[in-house]
Amino acid sequence: AGPDLFGDRRNSAGWDLTHAPTLAALDIARAAWREHLWGAAPILAEGPLTAPSGGTEDSVTSPVDGLLVGRVVAATPEVVRAAHGAARTWDAPVAERAATLRRAADAYEEHAPELFALLAREAGKALPDAVAELREAVDFLRYYAAEAEAAGEAPPRGIWGAISPWNFPLAIFSGQIAAALATGNAVLAKPAGQTPLTAARAVALLHGAGVPRAALQLLPGGPETGAALTALPLDGVAFTGSTATSRRIRESLAEHAAPGTPLIAETGGINAMIVDSTALPEHAVRDIVMGAFRSAGQRCSALRCLYVQEDVEGRLLTMLKGAMDELSLGDPWHLATDVGPVIDHEAAEGIRAHVETARAEGRLLHELPLPASSGHYIPPTILRVKDIAAVGREVFGPVLHVATFRAGEIDRVVADINAMGYGLTFGLHTRIDDRVEEIVTSVEVGNLYVNRNQIGAIVGSQPFGGEGLSGTGPKAGGPHYLPRFRAPAAPSAAP
Ligand code: NAD
Ligand code: ALA
Repeated sequence: AGPDLFGDRRNSAGWDLTHAPTLAALDIARAAWREHLWGAAPILAEGPLTAPSGGTEDSVTSPVDGLLVGRVVAATPEVVRAAHGAARTWDAPVAERAATLRRAADAYEEHAPELFALLAREAGKALPDAVAELREAVDFLRYYAAEAEAAGEAPPRGIWGAISPWNFPLAIFSGQIAAALATGNAVLAKPAGQTPLTAARAVALLHGAGVPRAALQLLPGGPETGAALTALPLDGVAFTGSTATSRRIRESLAEHAAPGTPLIAETGGINAMIVDSTALPEHAVRDIVMGAFRSAGQRCSALRCLYVQEDVEGRLLTMLKGAMDELSLGDPWHLATDVGPVIDHEAAEGIRAHVETARAEGRLLHELPLPASSGHYIPPTILRVKDIAAVGREVFGPVLHVATFRAGEIDRVVADINAMGYGLTFGLHTRIDDRVEEIVTSVEVGNLYVNRNQIGAIVGSQPFGGEGLSGTGPKAGGPHYLPRFRAPAAPSAAP
């Protein structure tokens, strides 16, 4: 037997959706939550606030059908400041903090049917994507607990802001918090404005497991709440979201926080895949569909620009269109659904405008029909582009751009990909070993996948994070992440 890489830690076993009894049981348990209305409000050290002291109350509606999912009270700047004043680092022994996070992980798994229902209703996640997300959240909790314990006692930095996106409202939200808590910091958690309800359930489960309220406070709200948070003297910020927002946060920290305050920023990308003429086409097509269209293309890791060698383009595109036609687009509540809606009206409008420009220019290669629904659906679509620069921006939805290259042009393609300045994920399909060697050393990205899809990095095995415009910090779910959350060692006195 080889070395035991994981010690006592195991990744979440998840739920086998091909096992009929598991699926049936899950479906029955989930059904109880179909019409449920959830709530979210600032959860401060002294307990949850209600409107009007917390802020005004708003409705949270589903991207699936526009129906009410719950209500949220956003944290005002005054509430954000009060939370900062009440925050206390978690000075329990590291073993106790780790045990608490493991209890929280167990609680997440026990509440799986409710969390799956929330992810479907609030974020529009199809069940396989919701299962993957819950597993990732659980893995983060257990992995950071194990990493903190293995490192032993070490002082925390202080108060961390944790600012997360809507596309992983449970996994990324919980991962940032778990890292800060495992290392004994206090956390002010600001979820995305679109997904406060999932965040509030996660915080309730964390508090229920024993995380002290003064060590973890929830500040629901949108960009204004986030801006109010980063205008405080924080000791660190873990941010995941767009590259533009990360710049704003950096500027705010430069103005309000002490010099050297860490900002761990995980941001966007325009991710590419190269498929050469030696690739196994059915394998490549499966991975392209997975990377470009699962989660409705709303993963930072998703494939955006496919480069296919000219000689095999015709055959590959025929197979790709056939595979796309098998995708089922619709209500994520239904077990057969592969692709749900995008998050909101604004996102859908932006993606539609991008597709319409391409259609008008005669660059639309394939598009699935829209479901008859009031939800924010964008059909899986393929657009022709000259090269990756012509994609223009991170189009955050189920839209794949396809470019071709000739034999001998691979170096130019890699140079074009690198010139974009992003560097999150990259995929390569080839059966030439030397080509793998060449490309893995020349493409500048954080996560590189050969002959497999480029989404769904596994915590503890595939640390995840980008370079350049795609990220600044250590990779999440890897051994270099937690040290950033600890106080730097004091310089030793001169002899
Ligand atoms: P976003 O940048 O709009 O928002 C992210 C978070 O920042 C939200 O909580 C938002 O309320 C907050 N925010 C917005 N303006 C702020 C400000 N001025 N100050 C402080 N906080 C502010 O991103 P999004 O639309 O929620 O998420 C999608 C983006 O996230 C995509 O670009 C995607 O690639 C990226 N993403 C990256 C990773 C990664 O690991 N690299 C993972 C998931 C998502
Ligand atoms: N960690 C997520 C993935 O790899 C974003 O898809």
